[in-house]
Amino acid sequence: MINEMDAEKERVVRIREMTIDDLSEVFHIGEEIFTSEYSPVLYRSWDEYEITTLFNSDSELCLVAEADEEILGFALGTTVEKQHSAWKYGYLVWLGVRRGLQKGGTGERLFRELKRRMVDQGVRMMIIDTDADNQAGIRFFKKQGFGNIQQHVYMTLNLSRRPRRRKGERPE
Ligand SMILES: CC(C)(COP(=O)(O)OP(=O)(O)OC[C@H]1O[C@@H](n2cnc3c(N)ncnc32)[C@H](O)[C@@H]1OP(=O)(O)O)[C@@H](O)C(=O)NCCC(=O)NCCS
Repeated sequence: MINEMDAEKERVVRIREMTIDDLSEVFHIGEEIFTSEYSPVLYRSWDEYEITTLFNSDSELCLVAEADEEILGFALGTTVEKQHSAWKYGYLVWLGVRRGLQKGGTGERLFRELKRRMVDQGVRMMIIDTDADNQAGIRFFKKQGFGNIQQHVYMTLNLSRRPRRRKGERPE
């Protein structure tokens, strides 16, 4: 008898371009994965605008993994050309696999197809970013050959607090 895990492995997984009909399912899968605990930084958060923007600009780099008409995960990417640089960069912006279906090879399949498409588009360097605490993600990307980890510092300034008045200073 095959158990649930084996049955999952038996399913034929197909990587294909995302279509407009997939947008809401992809959005909801992302909502489950990219929570505020996943990424405490505010500069990039998962919302419908993220998907539609990438879908409108780079639909060939917006992929889903599907099995039995269920979407298992997605990869959304774009390309970046910098001024004064002959290099074209491929930025994998979002990669997500449904909770419960992770570690089954879906992420790797999505990544490989995205990389193949980026190479076809003349990309010479791929970039990803993720939270420093995302050990599983970092391990995943290292396995795909990524290296040269750069740390980035985020700072905040709370503008809703009133500045403290110095001694002798009159209120405005
Ligand atoms: C990162 C993510 C996309 C990987 O997809 P996946 O389908 O789970 O990964 P795969 O099964 O293809 O794993 C490939 C390799 O990645 C590494 N890996 C994946 N998940 C891991 C985990 N939870 N812990 C440690 N290593 C992990 C392993 O080296 C694995 O190879 P192995 O099974 O031979 O050991 C998926 O875990 C996910 O959606 N995570 C949350 C969102 C995220 O972090 N996205 C990336 C930044 S946008």
